[in-house]
Amino acid sequence: MILNKLEAGQGPALVLLHGFPLNRWMWSLQLLELASPHCHVIAPDLPGHGTMALSPNGHSVDTMADEVIRLLDHMGLTEPVVVGGLSMGGYVALSIAVRYPHRLRGLVLLNTRAGADTPETAKVREEIAQTIEKTGDSSVVLEIMLPKLLAPATYQDQPEIVEMTRDMMASASPEGVAATSRALAARPSRIDDLPNIRLPTLVIAGANDQLIPLSESESLASAIPGAELVIIPDSGHLSPRENPEATNAAILGFLGRIA
Ligand code: MLT
Repeated sequence: MILNKLEAGQGPALVLLHGFPLNRWMWSLQLLELASPHCHVIAPDLPGHGTMALSPNGHSVDTMADEVIRLLDHMGLTEPVVVGGLSMGGYVALSIAVRYPHRLRGLVLLNTRAGADTPETAKVREEIAQTIEKTGDSSVVLEIMLPKLLAPATYQDQPEIVEMTRDMMASASPEGVAATSRALAARPSRIDDLPNIRLPTLVIAGANDQLIPLSESESLASAIPGAELVIIPDSGHLSPRENPEATNAAILGFLGRIA
């Protein structure tokens, strides 16, 4: 299978990986602002998300990473690229950095973490998967996650972002959400790999992220040699939508420094 994608611009490739349970459209503002003349932006749907079915090769963070590499091969992008991932997309980006370092020339980790799930979180994910399988309806994830995905102020000040996020979550396939809940619960910790990452790395944190405390982004940035940390004001977990200006400026600054 080859991942469906949004694509714009020309030049050095920037691959953007969405969070859970979202899809490629979460990056539409980055496609508008970061594409040509700056770069060739590619935003795929990960397996089990958006327009993509689950991969026949199994479903895990690592198999999602394998499918991103397959897409790059399919597109003839054999030169190293920059990969950016938000939250779950960051788990996939870290899998690529650890398992396919030669395919990368830079890494952008947005609102994400390197650690595995706690046993409590893994248990909740399994319960979510079972509920979805029983009911055939993934709205349980929307109920649990939507109140935490954005900064408290965003719910009041930017209702269109709340609606867009709700729509993306509501359109996710129940089968994909259930399988991804289990895949996220089973993902390995990458903490021990961080000191060995030899790639220019930008860590982005939402100042008001309710899911990833700032201290976690600080630890992530300090564990990767030479990584920079940029804190996005007026933003929760979805910095590319909640504060696209600051997020785009951080990414463009990084791309300029590693050109
Ligand atoms: C995401 O935004 O991708 C999720 O918060 C990731 C997760 O549930 O671990």
